[in-house]
Amino acid sequence: MSGNNTLAEDILKHADIVKVVESYMPLIKAGKNYKGVCPFHDDTNPSLVVSPEKQMFKCFVCGTGGNAITFVQKYEHISFGEALRKVADIVDYHPAGLERVGRPVKVDERRDQILKCLYDLNLYYQFALNTQEGKKGLDYLESRKLDNTLRNKYKLGYAPEDGKATIDFLLKKGHSIKTIEDTGIAKMLSPGNYRDMNEGRVTFPICDIDGNVIGFSARRLVDDNSPKYMNTPETYLFHKTNNLYNIHIAKDACKLKEFIYICEGFMDVYALGKIGIDAAVAIMGTALTSEHIQILRSLNVELRLCLDGDLPGQSAMMKIAKVLAKSGINFRVVDNQGSDRDPDEILNEDGKAALEEYLNKLVSQTDFALNYYLRSNPLKTNEEKKTLIKEFLPILLRIDSQLELDNYLRKLQKITGFDAESIRDLLKRARVTVSQGEETTKAVFQNFHPEREALQKLVTAERELLYQMSQNKRAVSFYEQKVGGFYDDNYRQIANFMIEYAENHDEMDVNGVLLLMQNEEENRDDIINDLTSLMVETHPSQCSEQLLENLLDTINGEKTRITDEDILASSLEGKSELEQARIIKEFRQRELAKKK
Ligand code: UTP
Ligand code: MN
Repeated sequence: MSGNNTLAEDILKHADIVKVVESYMPLIKAGKNYKGVCPFHDDTNPSLVVSPEKQMFKCFVCGTGGNAITFVQKYEHISFGEALRKVADIVDYHPAGLERVGRPVKVDERRDQILKCLYDLNLYYQFALNTQEGKKGLDYLESRKLDNTLRNKYKLGYAPEDGKATIDFLLKKGHSIKTIEDTGIAKMLSPGNYRDMNEGRVTFPICDIDGNVIGFSARRLVDDNSPKYMNTPETYLFHKTNNLYNIHIAKDACKLKEFIYICEGFMDVYALGKIGIDAAVAIMGTALTSEHIQILRSLNVELRLCLDGDLPGQSAMMKIAKVLAKSGINFRVVDNQGSDRDPDEILNEDGKAALEEYLNKLVSQTDFALNYYLRSNPLKTNEEKKTLIKEFLPILLRIDSQLELDNYLRKLQKITGFDAESIRDLLKRARVTVSQGEETTKAVFQNFHPEREALQKLVTAERELLYQMSQNKRAVSFYEQKVGGFYDDNYRQIANFMIEYAENHDEMDVNGVLLLMQNEEENRDDIINDLTSLMVETHPSQCSEQLLENLLDTINGEKTRITDEDILASSLEGKSELEQARIIKEFRQRELAKKK
């Protein structure tokens, strides 16, 4: 390396750092130094200082610094040797010995041969698109609104049905059968008898970060039982899970935009490309691997997760968001706003402006997670719900704004059914213990039983009344006249069976009611279980008018409170902070007025 070092010293002597940095970004003179917006962190003020005197640069916010070579190396994410060559190019100083630097010493011949073969193959596919047979493929791409410019930009093609002829073409081009096998596209029918695995499909070349074709995905033209996309299998060069589709285009585009969108599929990348966003890649499915993360991290821009709006896409994003948060990468999530479409569908159905708006609705991980739970409702048991609260506790503790906190608590109430006030209490206790440093938040959490407090009040009252109804016709008519319906779906259904039974019998009898339920088709087992557990678990009081009136009061009170909070929560959605504040204030005032 000492040879390199003297060479580097020589080049540095001839390379003014200001000139080198200015070839990448603008600088402003400030005293004897220069200043610029730092490209190595999410900078808004110019905090990068370049000193011509010392021939060094330094960012006082993120701490990145070094000489001209380091700058280029970091900016371009390249090796020292490559950066050395770039600096020499920028200042147009090329000392002897430079040509040996920064190039891979050992040429990988196998790699070169595969790349050449894939290059020829892709040209063949592109050509085939404009032949008579290729018209099918061309029509298909047209139907997906991929015009000639886009087809060229993404180098799309068509693999002719005669896949044997494709292999013959490659052989004639001078590629060995070994190399053709190495590309992964040849399937062997019998020894010496090969066909193109992509035959009869439109082809999407997958490139490495430098734009070399390293594999393909090929889409069927009609909806049959075959796989929608056929992908090149794992080869010497192609590892599907390491690759980001469109990275060779996106890596430059994202430098200007300072963000990159991460989508699921090819069509989504094209949709973004159609509206002028080239800073987009596809993970070709729903898995974000550690290799993907490594590449994305090195881009040094904000990641914007934009998987499909459907449940598989959204739950994959939940997982991805957790991983990214852990790895400390700067990212936000595109909020699907309840729609289950992908970007391609949005563009086709609603147009450019709609897709732009969609892509700009970016939320933090916390907001995304809350929306996800609100919309997909995957939490069933109390334990799951409590675990969720536990996960959110540290986040809630960090929120200073009362308004924001209210908002989160309301959402958590909607998701878990736990009263917002019990969660607020838990938070208070956690705050105290954090400041006292005695108990851990974990211990605080063990005393958290919101289900016994909030919704439980309503459910308990409904259970009690239902029990009375099973014993007593008076309770049944009381329910019919005054309550009108239970909050709990199953209880409401059971109550209806009791009414039916009461109409035809002088005395109530639970077994008679159970018999009626046998005819119920949809959720017979559920309601029978509910009714039997009610009989076994309830320790009821003697039935009296007073008891019935008390139960009615509890039921009405709790029901109004729950629906009010629901209404409030939904009336806040999509409103500005200011408006939300006004709505919450008015709501609380009305609540107070009611209590008086
Ligand atoms: P999707 O099923 O969402 O496809 O899979 P899509 O992008 O919406 O495609 P169109 O609009 O139906 O043509 C997302 C991505 O997952 C990979 C592809 O990369 C696809 O773009 N995939 C999907 C496969 O590799 N194989 C498949 O059979 C399906
Ligand atoms: Mn899709």
